[in-house]
Amino acid sequence: MPDADKIFNAKNNLIFPGFIDVHTHMRDSTLEYKENFVTGTSAAVAGGFTTILDMPNTVPPITSVKELIHRKHTAKNTILCNMGFYCSPLSGKDIKELINEGAIGFKIYLHKPFEDQDLSNNNIMEIMLEIKKNNSILCVHAEDYSFSGNSESTSSNKAEVLAINKIINLVKQINCKIHFAHISTHEGLEIIKKHKNVLNISCEATPHHALLDKNDASDNFGYCEPKLKDKTDRESILKGIIDGSIDIVATDHAPHTIAEKKNLKKPGFPGLETT
Ligand code: NCD
Ligand code: ZN
Repeated sequence: MPDADKIFNAKNNLIFPGFIDVHTHMRDSTLEYKENFVTGTSAAVAGGFTTILDMPNTVPPITSVKELIHRKHTAKNTILCNMGFYCSPLSGKDIKELINEGAIGFKIYLHKPFEDQDLSNNNIMEIMLEIKKNNSILCVHAEDYSFSGNSESTSSNKAEVLAINKIINLVKQINCKIHFAHISTHEGLEIIKKHKNVLNISCEATPHHALLDKNDASDNFGYCEPKLKDKTDRESILKGIIDGSIDIVATDHAPHTIAEKKNLKKPGFPGLETT
């Protein structure tokens, strides 16, 4: 080891390596009024994160090489921690060139496809085939399309279950690497656990789904997607983190302005400093 400039006495403290957040919605660019690369990555570092993976639902979304290059370009010389960029493919044909441009992985939102994005089973299978061929990974926001726009729906456990089952059926045919983002239900976790030993799948959960349920934060400020669920769901998510059936704790850091939370019920809240 080289000599250090500064020596800290960490006696009686826990020492961790820099954390990696695999699920950050860093804003910047057209969403700079919520957060920019400097404030967002400052929050990351303050929370102990030294690497974050950025989600593609920016405005416009990162669905093309052009937008990926723009995102990387704006991040350059402004970010204060390492950053990887997820992309959302419009079709299988996009995969290779996005990887060549540095895409860290791919993400689809089953409940909210982007403009011109066809998330029929056929197109998802084509995307999976290309991802497998290029040894990358597909991260899935698993809430079924039939529940989209219906934030009051009381059956959103079913939305997660339907979506996970659909993806697992496709993975059984293609066997591409899948990562399930923010699992929030007891039933969803059970399905993933059942298939984990045979399929190449992993999953994450957020601190909010592990520690809060719908009774703790029922106003707009507590609204996120997937939304907070029942006490039994919360307990099984926490148990899954402890017993290792949930592979990763991720923040789903997704800040909005107070007015947007209050008046527009925008989903999500900051997570990098609280996780
Ligand atoms: C995310 C956002 O605002 O970007 N919101 C959220 O509640 N997690 C979008 C998303 O991940 O669905
Ligand atoms: Zn998210």
